[in-house]
Amino acid sequence: MHILSFVSAFSLASLALASPVEVAERQAQKLRIMPLGDSITEITCWRAFVWDQLAAAGLADQVQYVGSQNSNPQGCQPQTANWDQHHEGHSGWLAIDIANNYLANWLRSTPADIVMFMLGTNDVVRGHTTDEIINAYTKMVEIMRAANPNTKIIVDLVIPLPFSNGPIQAINSRIPQWAAGLNSTESPIVVADCYQGFTSSMLRDGVHPNLEGDRLIASRVGPLLLDYVKQSLGQ
Ligand SMILES: *[C@@H]1O[C@H](CO)[C@@H](O)[C@H](O)[C@H]1NC(C)=O
Repeated sequence: MHILSFVSAFSLASLALASPVEVAERQAQKLRIMPLGDSITEITCWRAFVWDQLAAAGLADQVQYVGSQNSNPQGCQPQTANWDQHHEGHSGWLAIDIANNYLANWLRSTPADIVMFMLGTNDVVRGHTTDEIINAYTKMVEIMRAANPNTKIIVDLVIPLPFSNGPIQAINSRIPQWAAGLNSTESPIVVADCYQGFTSSMLRDGVHPNLEGDRLIASRVGPLLLDYVKQSLGQ
């Protein structure tokens, strides 16, 4: 009893006197979420709207987005003014190249507890096969797990690409079984269905979501992310 009250008084005192280094350490202990993808992650607002969901759930202080990029190219204005703009979205990039040449280094620079990704659109545009793209997904999962065996993963079904939608549907039809096959307790994979209900009127230029499309993506990704965050924080 005495020891317990001493300990809690002590922790309160050390909180009050937190040095900049201690503050930085607490910062570093925030749960790290990497939004990974191409332009549909970089120059869009869904990650801002997902942040609003984290904030509404009272979780924003305990999480951070991570990645080599820190930008808001669309000038998104979510409800949370100070949303975290870090991400690993790279316009025009292929899943295949990210898997083969980049992801391992990115995760070394900015380790992640949770990775959420949508990739494949540019691979389709360049004529890569469904097999090549799914193999790149597998390689990415291997890289995530080599970096952190407990990585929690959200893989998105890819939004429609009206001028070449057959290959997008082909990837999407493979993803659920692919994800189930690689699923594990230590490193779960869940699928965010960003395809069902996504109409061409939700694209601003035939490729990228407009605000309505961003809201649809956020509505499919956000609840899965919140589940992961709560599990990770023991809530
Ligand atoms: C992976 O396992 C978890 C826990 O059993 C489950 O909730 C999730 O739906 C599984 N993912 C897939 C893609 O089957």
